[in-house]
Amino acid sequence: MNIDQTVALPESITITRPDDWHLHLRDDAAMRAVLPHTASRFARAIVMPNLRPPITTTALAVSYRQRILSALPAGMVFDPLMTLYLTDNTRVEEIKLARESGVVYALKYYPAGATTNSDSGVTAIEKCYPVLAAMERYDLPLLVHGEVTGSDVDVFDREAMFIDQILRPLVARFPNLKIVMEHITTQEAVEFVMQAPVTIAATLTPQHLMLNRNAIFNGGVRPHNYCLPILKRESHRRALVAAAISGLPKFFLGTDSAPHAQHTKENDCGCAGMYTAHAGIELYAELFAAEGALSKLEGFASFFGADFYGLPRNTQKITLKRQAWTVPDVYPFGEHTLVPMRARENIQWQLIASQT
Ligand code: NCD
Ligand code: ZN
Ligand code: ZN
Repeated sequence: MNIDQTVALPESITITRPDDWHLHLRDDAAMRAVLPHTASRFARAIVMPNLRPPITTTALAVSYRQRILSALPAGMVFDPLMTLYLTDNTRVEEIKLARESGVVYALKYYPAGATTNSDSGVTAIEKCYPVLAAMERYDLPLLVHGEVTGSDVDVFDREAMFIDQILRPLVARFPNLKIVMEHITTQEAVEFVMQAPVTIAATLTPQHLMLNRNAIFNGGVRPHNYCLPILKRESHRRALVAAAISGLPKFFLGTDSAPHAQHTKENDCGCAGMYTAHAGIELYAELFAAEGALSKLEGFASFFGADFYGLPRNTQKITLKRQAWTVPDVYPFGEHTLVPMRARENIQWQLIASQT
């Protein structure tokens, strides 16, 4: 950031209350620990279904939603938008149930073995064609973790390969199916989404916008910067930033905040996922400010996702102040702790008011 830009930055900004279009809330004590971070910032969130066992039916989604609402601290207003975990065995009838429930907003496609808790995922997308056709009819979006899984494919190439092998054919076969490519990490994904029809959108995480793959190996192995898809090289990060601040409605906010207990990440086989809900809007504000693009934050964080899902935009406001604060080293996480993004470091923007 140059000095001129610093001078031009406002002391505070007020924007429409944002939504998080990709979030992991987990369950039970873990959920109770993290939920207030999200609910104090965001009006709504698309809640990922990768619990153990996964949320595969509308009935399971309805009871999970009830557990989330019961865990909300008094006075907090937050609407969890539920998703179903697509499997080889998802039934076509489930799509009608999901749509008619009024609480399920999408289905999530995890290629089997691609990421945390994806072992019940789809083994071959062709098996889901009848279900995808029903989703197209009922206007229920498909959210994708876009990585191929073969051990012969380099971990840094998995997203680009997924676009060519899976996504392009899928878009051609189901032209009216809404698809969100979640947590995109590459220039290839940005280009794909930009040239794709209006039915195709993408979410962008704080970590993929702010860190490149050096962060995984900065002076030694950094397990807290390990997430999937894995961080990519700087040129890809720049492409993601350009997409985020472009003002194009195809790109919107999805934190992918994915809490894991500290000891499961600082481990011989550490879990994938970064925790960002504690600063779920502040990190984006810092990035947009550094890029001289604060005027683009509200569309990205508060409008485009709602528009894509066909939901009303929020009317409440939040205010962020340009005042540095230091992220704690850990947050409580049930009987454990978790290490948040930017632990022990400063974030330049602070949430000071959130209307509900
Ligand atoms: C997520 C998780 O922990 O549930 N992890 C991650 O690295 N992003 C799963 C996912 O979103 O792929
Ligand atoms: Zn994912
Ligand atoms: Zn995720």
